[in-house]
Amino acid sequence: MFKVVALLAEPMADSKTQLVSANVLLCLREFGQDLYMYLDEHELLETSLKPKQIGDLLAIPFKPLHFESQNINTVRDRLGFDISSDSIELERVADSLNPHARLSKVIETWLSTYPKVDAQSLLSSLPRKWELLGDLVILPETAFESKHWKEIFAQISSTEKLDLWQQVTHALGGQRLARQHPIAKNEKRSSQTELLLGQDGWVEFLDHGIHFGFDATKVMFSSGNVTERRRIGMIDMQGEVVVDAFAGVGYYSLHMALRSKAEHIHACEINPDSIHGLTWACKANAVEQKITIHQGDNQKTLPLLYGQADRCHLGILPSSQPVWEHALRCLKSGGGWLHIHMNVHKNDIEQWQKSTIEVLQKYAQQIGHGWDISAHHLERVKWFSPHIWHVVLDVECRADTTLIKV
Ligand SMILES: C[S@@+](CC[C@H](N)C(=O)[O-])C[C@H]1O[C@@H](n2cnc3c(N)ncnc32)[C@H](O)[C@@H]1O
Repeated sequence: MFKVVALLAEPMADSKTQLVSANVLLCLREFGQDLYMYLDEHELLETSLKPKQIGDLLAIPFKPLHFESQNINTVRDRLGFDISSDSIELERVADSLNPHARLSKVIETWLSTYPKVDAQSLLSSLPRKWELLGDLVILPETAFESKHWKEIFAQISSTEKLDLWQQVTHALGGQRLARQHPIAKNEKRSSQTELLLGQDGWVEFLDHGIHFGFDATKVMFSSGNVTERRRIGMIDMQGEVVVDAFAGVGYYSLHMALRSKAEHIHACEINPDSIHGLTWACKANAVEQKITIHQGDNQKTLPLLYGQADRCHLGILPSSQPVWEHALRCLKSGGGWLHIHMNVHKNDIEQWQKSTIEVLQKYAQQIGHGWDISAHHLERVKWFSPHIWHVVLDVECRADTTLIKV
């Protein structure tokens, strides 16, 4: 396979023009945002350089050193549009436009009043990634949590700390600030985000033109699954009844109702805070008539939907296996589709795919359906942790052997 990394040299700066020789991926402008998000999600984006428009194309800089295990064909297959690579000259992002540079500057100035601290080590450990949901900046859980920061916080007043949070927030382009804590290992996958600046955690924003709203201190939102939300939203579901077994605030339900044009969605969700967000979003997107919310444990709500669905979406990690049998029972007698989310070790993906189909076949036989069950596509959504992929398997279950393309 063609490896981009082999073609590319380290960027060389030209001090007069401020142009830098860069490795870029090119795609049609209309797909630029998706390619940009994909590179960002896979930590391949070179954020210090500005993307450039060239005619109908957009050139997006990437980090060749991180590209080793990837190749263009894989990225092209995942995203479903044409991509090519090149090496061209790009401008550096001015420090005033680069939020990380703005953050460093603000912290450097703030730290100058503390001559005894090791400013360099604190500056080098500043977060490089954060989320911006509406006007709420969500820092990673390790941000400003090192021993050195704790020592500084022990010496300053709450007003001084608030001043620091204000400066951080404005540098990163928000109005409120929070810090992520690990997603709770409870069934609700509750967010444990800590609010550092601001009165409440309610956020509202658009994703692919869809309104979302929820309290980010109470429920999780995986902004990282943007390419999967895009992919699911591109599947034609006209006329279909869909069961979303883990609906959350509507991450997939809303895309299926609005972009895939599903006829009706049954959204199962256990967490009242997520349901609050989903109810808000149904109204904001005017799809109250298309989405029925089933509150409670899906072990109890899915049996109420047996035999009704053309498609079941099973979006939970690390495994959606506890509902596989229910999901098969929810399909109409003629069969349908399953979208199975799972965390799988990179070396086990093929085996997992095979054993999943076998398990589903066994369940289908037990419930008296002589369906053909086949894996149609395996989507690698993102690295969940080192060696572990978050994958989605699209499975078709059909009473006859005429397969319909997703
Ligand atoms: C991982 S979140 C949804 C994430 C979303 N699919 C995404 O990728 O961003 C899983 C959702 O399933 C809900 N959930 C977990 N167990 C459930 C159960 N037994 N019945 C109904 N909902 C459940 C949680 O409350 C949470 O909102």
